[in-house]
Amino acid sequence: MVEGSTRVIENAVPVDDAAVAAARARHEGRVAIVTGASRGIGLAIARRLADEGASVVLTARRPEPLEEAAAALPEGRVRIVPGNAQDPAHRREAVATAVGEFGGIDILVANAGINPVYGPLLELDHDAARKIFEVNVLGTLGWVQEACAAGLGERDGAAILAMSSVTGAVASPGIGWYGVTKAAVAHLATTLAVELAPRVRVNALAPAVVRTRFARALYEGHEEEVAARYPLGRLGRPEDVAAAAAFLCSADAGWVTGQVLTVDGGLLAAGGVA
Ligand SMILES: NC(=O)c1ccc[n+]([C@@H]2O[C@H](COP(=O)([O-])OP(=O)(O)OC[C@H]3O[C@@H](n4cnc5c(N)ncnc54)[C@H](OP(=O)(O)O)[C@@H]3O)[C@@H](O)[C@H]2O)c1
Repeated sequence: MVEGSTRVIENAVPVDDAAVAAARARHEGRVAIVTGASRGIGLAIARRLADEGASVVLTARRPEPLEEAAAALPEGRVRIVPGNAQDPAHRREAVATAVGEFGGIDILVANAGINPVYGPLLELDHDAARKIFEVNVLGTLGWVQEACAAGLGERDGAAILAMSSVTGAVASPGIGWYGVTKAAVAHLATTLAVELAPRVRVNALAPAVVRTRFARALYEGHEEEVAARYPLGRLGRPEDVAAAAAFLCSADAGWVTGQVLTVDGGLLAAGGVA
């Protein structure tokens, strides 16, 4: 691909079904819960884990999109549990579904996260702040607590993946509180990694802008300009994040825990802001 005088070498993970199907069956026989999985990054992670052999439980608030998402996954190896990630009863139900339908839990991907506000921190409404913290941070911890109480870690190879963001690593003016919660998620993962070792590995992913509904306001109408800040010359795709997630949850990452893996097309290396 040639853009102006710059040659951008395409360096993406396989996104076509045939290539993904040809990938190794690293998650054969394993059971995963992926939260916030009716679209975007969560759906790509669920699809990738399923393509690599896992049975998956998908959650999100609205049932219809969840049903549509599940319809595209291997029949018999997918269940959906609609509900809000911040609701303890919903978390209990999702975990019970994984255990009851598939016999246990090997992987938890705590992906659901929200950011309903935009503006300077000095104007941040505390009720909104509490709500974001509740879903992004306490929700993530709640999923971990529930999954561990239901036996995550009793079988070999257990892994937890939390969804942080580059906004948790560098200043993110305008979405500052979201960044604060994502910094907390990263630290939560690091601390849990030590507390849950050696039975469960815990890592986090920190993506930059990925083309999803969630991030649309950050690039729509000026995508080329935004992409030009990325050394790899493009925004992220959900599949880029899914590939990293599938690795971190697999035995290939068997000696990797407590890490926050940045998936950002080189943005931070180039000194970019989130
Ligand atoms: N896209 C990016 O640029 C980017 C960058 C860094 C980090 N992230 C993080 O990646 C994660 C996924 O983002 P995304 O871009 O994939 O978003 P997305 O495309 O908007 O998808 C969000 C998913 O989460 C579900 N969801 C939202 N709020 C929920 C809640 N309270 N409880 C349960 N499910 C909920 C949504 O379904 P319902 O609406 O039906 O609930 C949907 O399935 C988030 O944690 C986000 O902070 C995204």
